Amino acid sequence: MAYETILVETRARVGLITLNRPKALNALNTTVLAEVMAALEAFEADAGVGAIVITGSEKAFAAGADIKQMQSMSYVDAFMADFFAGWEALSRIRKPVIAAVAGYALGGGCELAMMCDFIIAADNAKFGQPEITLGVMPGMGGSQRLTRFVGKSKAMDMCLTGRMMDAEEAERSGLVSRVVPAGELIEEALAAATKIASFSLPAVMMAKEAVNRSYETTLSEGLRFERRVFHSMFALDDQTEGMSAFVEKRTPNFRNR
Ligand code: HXC
Repeated sequence: MAYETILVETRARVGLITLNRPKALNALNTTVLAEVMAALEAFEADAGVGAIVITGSEKAFAAGADIKQMQSMSYVDAFMADFFAGWEALSRIRKPVIAAVAGYALGGGCELAMMCDFIIAADNAKFGQPEITLGVMPGMGGSQRLTRFVGKSKAMDMCLTGRMMDAEEAERSGLVSRVVPAGELIEEALAAATKIASFSLPAVMMAKEAVNRSYETTLSEGLRFERRVFHSMFALDDQTEGMSAFVEKRTPNFRNR
């Protein structure tokens, strides 16, 4: 499929999506949404892909929702289109999705990164929810996910003042899992994704589901869910292979089933 706003490629077992609207610092419009979702769904359906990376440019992961597209929108337009609710479909992707963030991740850009399973940041990354400076507030999860990731005080600070957080503060606050030199971002993100894609895909998908469950349920229900899923793993060929390989002191050869 030919895309207008993204570049899509496969590197071994990793699917790579690069946001590509350089003149608008990768601002997210409805075409970007449709194309990213189409690419994600294609990777989800591709048995040759075990993990996915979403990235932008060195200057901007994404500078937010497209302000020029939103400028003249009415309440009824936004409500009837359920504006940008479509991004929630990203959380239904069952394979792991890593955000590799360099430069600006602002507004919807920060929110898109937070919808991914984890964020690897370049040392020049800047995260922010500057919607308040436009007379609005976050609308793609910023008030909810950011608060869960960095806590109320920092989330309030960012949503109410619109200030940006640099990569070092983002790592200290738990927003990102690691910070790497900007020139090594893609290499590092692809290496992490390649490692994930070398493991048993069903085990990886179940682990992702279990971690995500912790955001939706109580601790006792989450622990029960984890235990039940863990028990079910003894039905995987890959459990037999992984444990046998350890005992036999050899590299496992996972069959993804
Ligand atoms: C549309 C954008 C854009 C955006 C940048 N551009 N951000 N276009 N929507 N969000 C465009 C600029 O208009 C300009 O094009 C070009 O990208 C380069 O931007 P500059 O501002 O000239 O670059 P620079 O001076 O380096 O400043 C970078 C920046 C600034 C600090 C990131 O662009 C900025 O503040 N952008 C807006 C960030 C923001 O408020 N994001 C939140 C959006 S609201 P032209 O052709 O004009 O020169 C949001 C809501 C989500 O995300 C909820 C949805 C449901």
